[in-house]
Amino acid sequence: MKIIVVGAGGAVGQAAVKALEARHEIISVGRNSGDLHADLDDVDSIRAMYRETGKVDAVVSAIGHGHFGALEQMTAEQFMLGIHHKLLPQVNLVLEGFDYVNDGGSFTLTSGVLNRDPIRGSAAAGAANGALDGFVCAAAVDMPRGLRINCVSPEVLEASRERYDGFFNGHYHVSDEAVGLAFSRAVEGCQTGQVLIVEFG
Ligand SMILES: NC(=O)c1ccc[n+]([C@@H]2O[C@H](COP(=O)([O-])OP(=O)(O)OC[C@H]3O[C@@H](n4cnc5c(N)ncnc54)[C@H](OP(=O)(O)O)[C@@H]3O)[C@@H](O)[C@H]2O)c1
Repeated sequence: MKIIVVGAGGAVGQAAVKALEARHEIISVGRNSGDLHADLDDVDSIRAMYRETGKVDAVVSAIGHGHFGALEQMTAEQFMLGIHHKLLPQVNLVLEGFDYVNDGGSFTLTSGVLNRDPIRGSAAAGAANGALDGFVCAAAVDMPRGLRINCVSPEVLEASRERYDGFFNGHYHVSDEAVGLAFSRAVEGCQTGQVLIVEFG
């Protein structure tokens, strides 16, 4: 398969690439990294990316960030960061991608643990995750031509332990391999409309 992986250089993206690269052709994408440069925050950049890749069999996204902070001090603008930089870029990757994904192909998005097992200050990030999980569940029903759509929702990665040191006490840290297996199931498997939770391993 020919597979676009946006965010391939990140912690989650690298886990996805490791799981898929031996069997498939990977086109890695980032704003400043990868085979192709594109910024998913910008719909025109998404369109240009697809024009450059041409038809593919699968699209994987492992991007996104949002605001962390106390709820009672959170502004409307801060709340919207996760919507603008995690939810909408990944939704737009799907909306703009239909003409470029072959029949029977798939989209795989990335959400995360915070809408089911929150930490303090994670209301905005949890909301973006929940919206992504809801989007794939409902979008799967409308997918044409046998296309599938799923979301990988990992716990904190072992590779990100230092980055999030002190924020996820008591949370399990999952391996690249466990995260990669979820992307493998999403891309190479048969499920659709699923949130593939990676909680252990
Ligand atoms: N790490 C974890 O433990 C973990 C756990 C659960 C969920 N998640 C979720 O997984 C996603 C990825 O997290 P991560 O830790 O892997 O992030 P990361 O290490 O910061 O990597 C993000 C990657 O995405 C690319 N990127 C970021 N914004 C982009 C954009 N607008 N358009 C195109 N490429 C973009 C970056 O490359 P450039 O800088 O070149 O653009 C980079 O390769 C996030 O939504 C995060 O919430 C992460």
